[in-house]
Amino acid sequence: MSKKILDPLKPIVALCKRRGFIYPGSEIYGGFANTYSYGPYGVELKRNIQNLWWKTFVQSRTDIVGLDGPILLHPKTWEASGHLSGFSDVLIDCKTCKARIRADHLIEQKLNMDVEGKSPEEITAIIQENKLTCPKCGEHNFTDARHFNLMFSTQMSKTNENEADVAYLRPETAQAIFLDYKNVVDTTRVKLPFGIAQIGKAFRNEITPGNFVFRLIEFEQMEIEYFIREEEWENSFESWLEEMKKWCSLIGLKKAKTQVKEHAKEKLSHYSKRTVDIVYDFPFGVNELYGLAYRTDFDLSRHSEESGHPLYWHDLEKKEKFIPHVIEPTFGVDRTILALLCDAFEEETLESGETRNVLHFDPKIAPIKVAIFPLMKKPELTAKAKELFQEVLPYFAAEYDETGAIGKRYRRQDELGTPFCVTIDYDTLEDNTVTLRERDSMKQIRIPIKDVKRTLLEKI
Ligand code: GAP
Repeated sequence: MSKKILDPLKPIVALCKRRGFIYPGSEIYGGFANTYSYGPYGVELKRNIQNLWWKTFVQSRTDIVGLDGPILLHPKTWEASGHLSGFSDVLIDCKTCKARIRADHLIEQKLNMDVEGKSPEEITAIIQENKLTCPKCGEHNFTDARHFNLMFSTQMSKTNENEADVAYLRPETAQAIFLDYKNVVDTTRVKLPFGIAQIGKAFRNEITPGNFVFRLIEFEQMEIEYFIREEEWENSFESWLEEMKKWCSLIGLKKAKTQVKEHAKEKLSHYSKRTVDIVYDFPFGVNELYGLAYRTDFDLSRHSEESGHPLYWHDLEKKEKFIPHVIEPTFGVDRTILALLCDAFEEETLESGETRNVLHFDPKIAPIKVAIFPLMKKPELTAKAKELFQEVLPYFAAEYDETGAIGKRYRRQDELGTPFCVTIDYDTLEDNTVTLRERDSMKQIRIPIKDVKRTLLEKI
């Protein structure tokens, strides 16, 4: 990955490390490429996004139910889904510096040529004829191009035998949903059209990971498989696109930064008849944030054939049975977090000439909703501040801080994206009022201490 691509994210990556949002994975061992930990504030942000998604798409709707399926699915799943044969990138290795490179990316960058559908042999020939060089060391010394499956495999011991079976870590959560389609239909009161939603980890052995949490080898997806009659697909697709746009504005993403991008017919995944991406204008370029695909009846049909269990929908009134078609809205959790961080981050120059870093998060997703400070670390002030902190704690993610100058404490909360701070001072002891400070405007107002909880409940 070139430095040019990394730089625009630098202040955000630095803030995430400094403030406990996101840490590089396995750092004490020198790091483990393209893995990250969500720190104390990052995990709050992530949970807020996941909980809001679940509330929006599962708990607030009568046509969608939830599922939490396994990461390891029967190996035949991946034969049926087409992932074993088709889920691969074409890669080359630089024999000089050992860099592993996606051949299509190299050709696109250097020759502005799309090699979709070309064989590894044809791709090797293009690289040779054009004498393309390694972006890392500048040499033209590559291995032949070859397919590289993106699924991570692992070994499972067979019972009573010493042989081992290969199992795969799921590269999408979707397949766990298809495998339990029949269970959900048989055990609940769902009626077509209906959806099954899942939030969970997916794993891909990405060859060119990078751009912080944009492309990871281990990441989280929030997916819905929405089962419909075939003739409903166009309407359902359009209405899901609207739902996805509403979600983007619900979490506070700037409208001007997101767009809808149609996939060209020849670039569709093996299962899709139509796909659009919601793309986001990241600092390193416009890239996929979410996807919406019409998966037809491909997955349920393939699993019916492979498993021998027909995954029909039985319409008892119309006396018909058929395999439903599927519209799939899919949302990456880590890309949501990255888009929100990029959207919310501002290095603001104040009138004083000072710079303040702020995360202008929507209060709904902010990791901490309110920070409570005593003006100084004096027993009469800290006691009162702690009392208020205990009062609000059952209602909001709150933080108590008595360390350092008050200005520095405000700045720290600005960097965490905390929408409100409440300060207890000597006037509080006289008249029972406190200072309520709003993050974006930095305006401070006095309100009675007894009104703090209600005021915050109204604003958050
Ligand atoms: N079930 C369909 C599916 O998996 P996808 O476009 O390959 O479709 C869905 O992935 C979403 O998962 C993407 O829109 C993106 O948000 C997220 N995603 C995919 N690969 C990722 C990766 N390597 N790292 C982080 N997020 C990723």
